[in-house]
Amino acid sequence: MASVTSLSDSVQQHLASALSAGLPEAAGADPLLRRSDRADFQANGILALAKKAKANPRELATQVVDRVVTGDVIKEVEVSGPGFLNITITDKAIIETLAARYADEAGRLGVPYAANPGTTVIDYAQPNVAKEMHVGHLRSAVIGDSVVQLLEFTGESVVRRHHIGDWGTQFGMLIQYLDEHPHELDHKASTEDTAASGEEAMSNLDRLYKAARRKFDSDEEFKTRARRRVVDLQAGDPHTLAMWQKFVDESKIYFFSVFEKLDMEIRDPDIVGESGYNDMLAETCRLLEESGVAVRSEGALCVFFEDIKGPDGNPVPLIVQKSDGGYGYAATDLSAIRDRVFNLKADTLLYVVDARQSLHFKMVFETARRAGWLGDGVKAQQLAFGTVLGKDGKPFKTREGETVRLVDLLDEAIDRASAVVREKAQDLSEEEIAERGAQVGIGAVKYADLSTSASRDYKFDLDQMVSLNGDTSVYLQYAYARIRSILRKAGELRPAAHPELELAAAERALGLHADAFAETVREAAREYAPHKLAAYLYQLASLYTTFYDKCPVLKAETPQQVENRLFLCDITARTLHQGMALLGIRTPERL
Ligand code: ARG
Repeated sequence: MASVTSLSDSVQQHLASALSAGLPEAAGADPLLRRSDRADFQANGILALAKKAKANPRELATQVVDRVVTGDVIKEVEVSGPGFLNITITDKAIIETLAARYADEAGRLGVPYAANPGTTVIDYAQPNVAKEMHVGHLRSAVIGDSVVQLLEFTGESVVRRHHIGDWGTQFGMLIQYLDEHPHELDHKASTEDTAASGEEAMSNLDRLYKAARRKFDSDEEFKTRARRRVVDLQAGDPHTLAMWQKFVDESKIYFFSVFEKLDMEIRDPDIVGESGYNDMLAETCRLLEESGVAVRSEGALCVFFEDIKGPDGNPVPLIVQKSDGGYGYAATDLSAIRDRVFNLKADTLLYVVDARQSLHFKMVFETARRAGWLGDGVKAQQLAFGTVLGKDGKPFKTREGETVRLVDLLDEAIDRASAVVREKAQDLSEEEIAERGAQVGIGAVKYADLSTSASRDYKFDLDQMVSLNGDTSVYLQYAYARIRSILRKAGELRPAAHPELELAAAERALGLHADAFAETVREAAREYAPHKLAAYLYQLASLYTTFYDKCPVLKAETPQQVENRLFLCDITARTLHQGMALLGIRTPERL
């Protein structure tokens, strides 16, 4: 693999050396380069530098222009306005740089690895045992999966943790009920179909949950037996644990069926739920109490914060141990931090969790800092996401006002997408329509989620999501499939770079943008911002559409020009394919 210096990086280097030659104190300064409509790039950094050096910005800009080496990469550089630089790249450099990307292994496209990769533990896709997955679990899974792909692509070591809710008092009730009705989780028949067995598992769990709840609410003696079970569970009684394991296993059958529908790889060893930290809880509390980070207050073990107060003005503490001795969500998360920092050697802890849990994480991180578990070298961050809204702009609910089951929503998306695929299908079999329908439908759901910045709420609007026009995954998937079809039709002529050719404006725009894939990935990974990659890909497809309108490919004037345009087509296709893969979205060859 060969990492390729992008055009923008190489212009940056040219400018930086001209700059430090012109103004020695500006060595290492950022010329603030960005793509521009007027020229290919514009550098805006001279203004601030001149101001700092008390120099005239236009004069400094002119000095830099005089020193910039033009020729191979930079065709022209000129001063504009109060001291901006407009930079034009040679056609040759555009094609040569892309050719170097093209020569790299297909998915890599010459994108360099990060200079100092570290270890990130990412906490995402964390449904709850014995409970249905709903639309809130969608975002964590989709965003988390894309961030994993992005980070791994830059060379980061990534440890995935699915912090499922598999522990707590509700299990006493469930276990007791199952103990008294031992066949309630039996499967009717073994089935090969994961979706079917997933559905069956969930309906078993749901039925059992409701029955147990009914009994718990109406039968005082059962309630007592159920409470005793919680104590047995936490004490590690083998029979109780074995019953609990049945719930976890049953739930996993269901989770895996949903993740499979989501076209997402979740691995069993990465599922380390709340229960996985049970053995650490007592020690976590002891360390917090001994160090004085936590104090007893009305029997509970609490951590207090200056700036966190309730509506009554009284401080709201983080409760790590309740007055009855029970441990909750916070104790588990604090223990998980110890595990992730000291055992997994993470230097970054990332939590893809609903924004409504932000106060929890703020308090947990601060507590861990005070306890010395999160040192200077360790970053902890919640990648907080917003709410999925219905078309009416209110949190997404069914018409009956219930939370929407994730599977229902995915099925509906697949149905709608299949209808779109069927309408456009020319030579697709029923089987292919079903397969593409799933790829388009799931892609639509993921793309809609990933194309808005995570922190914002968004409206779940299937009509818009599967639309062929506009910023949708289907539009990108069609762009990809169209390019692949052209490449198939090219016959004898193969894509080949011809740096000696003069480029049309639409070719230059497409080429320059294709080259910016590396920067986009770098930025999206650094900021955990898949939406920046989505925006980039949409623009790439749009520029391709313009190019395709303006520049005949197979009917270009000379064989060299046909080859060069096929080459631009192919590099666009590869970029779309790889970019979409980093979002967890498939790009079918034909649509
Ligand atoms: N299971 C939780 C929920 O459904 C999310 C867990 C988030 N991760 C964590 N380490 N607390 O809301």
